[in-house]
Amino acid sequence: MAATAASVGVPLVIAIDGPAASGKGTIAAGVARELGFRYLDSGSLYRLVALKALRAGIPVTDEAALAVAASDLDFAFDNGGVQLGGEDATEGIRSEAVSAAASQVAVHPAVRRALLSRQRAFRQAPGLVADGRDMGTVVFPDAAIKVFVTASAEERAKRRYKQLIAKGISITMDGLLRDIRERDARDAGRVAAPLRPADDAVILDTTDLTIDAAIGAVLDLYRVRTMAAERQRS
Ligand code: C5P
Repeated sequence: MAATAASVGVPLVIAIDGPAASGKGTIAAGVARELGFRYLDSGSLYRLVALKALRAGIPVTDEAALAVAASDLDFAFDNGGVQLGGEDATEGIRSEAVSAAASQVAVHPAVRRALLSRQRAFRQAPGLVADGRDMGTVVFPDAAIKVFVTASAEERAKRRYKQLIAKGISITMDGLLRDIRERDARDAGRVAAPLRPADDAVILDTTDLTIDAAIGAVLDLYRVRTMAAERQRS
């Protein structure tokens, strides 16, 4: 597959999908850093649409208005942060209210369609690591490498708990576990681009893996696939 993408001069994509708090974002950012590739955190686009909608009073059920908000989305990524309409939204898009609204906004096919070309525009040389729910199934179906990152719901709640407590946000484990399960059910159960591994994805269970080991596993996969593609070409 890498040979096909490379041979027609299209920058290589590594698609990393998985449920909330599986570690996919940290893994994807680490892989991008190691390879010097661009990085797309596609969830932040859904979060930006949700934040914009909450601020503008657009109900999360109003598909048409949300799709307009998505296609007009004025955003910019810079130094690990993100701006919405020229203002810093790095923290704003991480609140629990925005997290919940993002997964409600993301059920609408028109919103997903509006974000499709914005996401594909990140595919630039020398390559892209993209993380989300449908990178390998819908946005980059021709990705050279597809990884589906999982971890038990309990382990994911524990990780999120540690992150929030470190930020001084008080929260209960029970509440977090419930939120994670609700989001999983909504992401997996929706009709448009449900959360599921692509048929050709490698499943990476991070329940008992450190982040460095998980990044190493994806890099190994990249090396094996690109070496195999080189051999096929020569
Ligand atoms: O990955 P993250 O948790 O930041 O994504 C926020 C929400 O955006 C998810 O709960 C999911 O509903 C939605 N999303 C999506 N497709 C993507 C990325 C995120 O539906 N590719």
